[in-house]
Amino acid sequence: MASAAAVSFHQTLPPPLQHRRLGPTPPRCTHSERGVSFDPGSAFYRSESAPGRDLAVLAATIHRRRRLDPSGPFLCLDAMCGCGIRALRYLAQAGADFVWANDASDALRPVVVGNLSRFEPEPLDGQRRWVVSHLDATRLLAERYLRREYFDVIDVDSFGSEAEYIRAAFLALKIGGLLYLTSTDWRSARGYGGKCSLSSYGAYVRPVPYPNEIGLRMLLGGAAREAAMLGFHITPVFSYYAYHGPIFRAMIQLRHGKEDGISNYGFICHCKSCGQTQTFGFHELGQISCRCADRTEPMLGHGSSTSLPFPFFVLMDKVYDLS
Ligand SMILES: C[S@@+](CC[C@H](N)C(=O)[O-])C[C@H]1O[C@@H](n2cnc3c(N)ncnc32)[C@H](O)[C@@H]1O
Repeated sequence: MASAAAVSFHQTLPPPLQHRRLGPTPPRCTHSERGVSFDPGSAFYRSESAPGRDLAVLAATIHRRRRLDPSGPFLCLDAMCGCGIRALRYLAQAGADFVWANDASDALRPVVVGNLSRFEPEPLDGQRRWVVSHLDATRLLAERYLRREYFDVIDVDSFGSEAEYIRAAFLALKIGGLLYLTSTDWRSARGYGGKCSLSSYGAYVRPVPYPNEIGLRMLLGGAAREAAMLGFHITPVFSYYAYHGPIFRAMIQLRHGKEDGISNYGFICHCKSCGQTQTFGFHELGQISCRCADRTEPMLGHGSSTSLPFPFFVLMDKVYDLS
């Protein structure tokens, strides 16, 4: 009805009310992050998260140089972009040839378009360097997969412990590509999340004295499980706990084929009597006990915490030298 009324409107309006076709006005530039100017507008933006974005830009830059086909276009997808700062930094600092910036909220469109327009107002050679959309992340990723559009880097900066997009992200990722995951589910990491982490990441967490590390392993374990279901495996590139939020972040690389699946995935057990922690594989179920006690006494039986199941990966793959 509203569009029909607009079409049949013949009256000449006074100048200030005349319909005008305006392109998006780039928002005022009020912020700068590592030399990149942008406007956060009304989007969720935290300057404390800049180190998490720095690490993503660093990993993406190294990956661009070392990927199997370095001559092909380097494609990044920011599935929950907020104001678009990550997409902008992948373009400006990681050498992305193209970024897809998406946020479910279409109210953010002028902000995201304005920020990316600042990087490239008009495509010079007719090739778009960026696209902005407003879809649910899982839908967007599934659509990319159905169209066989695969990305080198996919970044999903979500709230809470939502993990339903992990599988869709793997499907839209090139084999060897990087997936950057976020969880803010600190309750689960501290062992108070009930069944939330079990449904999201397949991990049931008991309270232990190192919840920050457990939160990262929870996230990695969920990704390892989803990758295995698709016939892949993952390698952690880095994992990062940030006190504000708090936030758990993990950059992982998707690898072809299944691993043996047992050597780096199992149970983390903490003994409340002696304070020691041990890992146990699935094949050791029923034999879980602490060295401080009678070997026949199960670890759970004398007041320990067993969190299950978790990856035993080292939390950072390598120390990179960008020089
Ligand atoms: C943590 S903020 C993003 C911050 C941004 N990545 C940054 O670094 O500044 C999460 C964003 O995800 C969006 N969002 C929430 N659920 C979504 C969904 N299911 N699909 C796509 N976007 C979603 C929200 O509108 C919000 O802007």
